[in-house]
Amino acid sequence: MKILAIISSPRKKNTYNAIKTIESIHKKNYDCEYEYLFLHKVDLKCCMGCHLCLTKGEEFCPLKDDRDIIINKIESADGVILASPNHTMNVNWRMKNFIDRYSYLMHRPRFFNQRFMILITSGSYRGIKEAMKALELMASGGKVISKIGVTNSPGMNDKKRRKQSKKLKKEAIKFINNMNKPFVYKPSFGDLIWFSIFKVLSKETEKESPADYEYYSKKEFFVKLDLSIGQRFILKMFKALFGFLNRIGLV
Ligand SMILES: Cc1cc2nc3c(=O)[nH]c(=O)nc-3n(C[C@H](O)[C@H](O)[C@H](O)COP(=O)(O)O)c2cc1C
Repeated sequence: MKILAIISSPRKKNTYNAIKTIESIHKKNYDCEYEYLFLHKVDLKCCMGCHLCLTKGEEFCPLKDDRDIIINKIESADGVILASPNHTMNVNWRMKNFIDRYSYLMHRPRFFNQRFMILITSGSYRGIKEAMKALELMASGGKVISKIGVTNSPGMNDKKRRKQSKKLKKEAIKFINNMNKPFVYKPSFGDLIWFSIFKVLSKETEKESPADYEYYSKKEFFVKLDLSIGQRFILKMFKALFGFLNRIGLV
């Protein structure tokens, strides 16, 4: 089993130590191989906000760096751990830039076979939720199996520390156990709505955003699946609803 840990802290301290703990829990239970990807060591330039990846397509990004190498690594791993320290109530800037560089995945998702674990380390409890929410976007169609916030407050008592260690162990095991099961993608209600909205909007914005149109116009759904009658009904209903709301100018 191959696990890719993407770490945005430039220090080998709290976030790194938490991942090391997760790795040792995993290696105790299963035969797995870890790869550490430190965002400060890879060539991932800062998003310039040109919108070209969103509109024309990711291949039009003017930045030439390791972006696609990283995405290939994500796709070839059995599980991916996304780990960031909490900086000012959110992920740190390196992780935010990482999310921004792949923001076209929010339009055109592709990680349908991927499983993710999210780890936030923090000085207190505040801001963990916000940071987790930002990282969940990176899963882009894939499944977030477990999430954990690890607090390193010096004021934490032993009871709280034990509770936190227990939770970390529980989430680490949940993640690895899930990876031992065959992965079957089941579209959620949210995925069906997401697809319906983009299918309608991509048609409307064909000229400005040909990449979205190209992606959605040929698809019945994100992935080829035997959709149930209920799922087809939801897709049809929401496409009709968003189409109507779009025509009357509400979306
Ligand atoms: C610039 C900066 C901003 C921070 N902001 C917060 C914050 O808003 N909330 C919080 O609980 N901890 C905050 N912290 C503390 C870190 O999240 C915490 O120490 C983290 O575990 C550091 O991880 P690292 O050792 O892997 O870099 C901040 C730390 C730095 C350096």
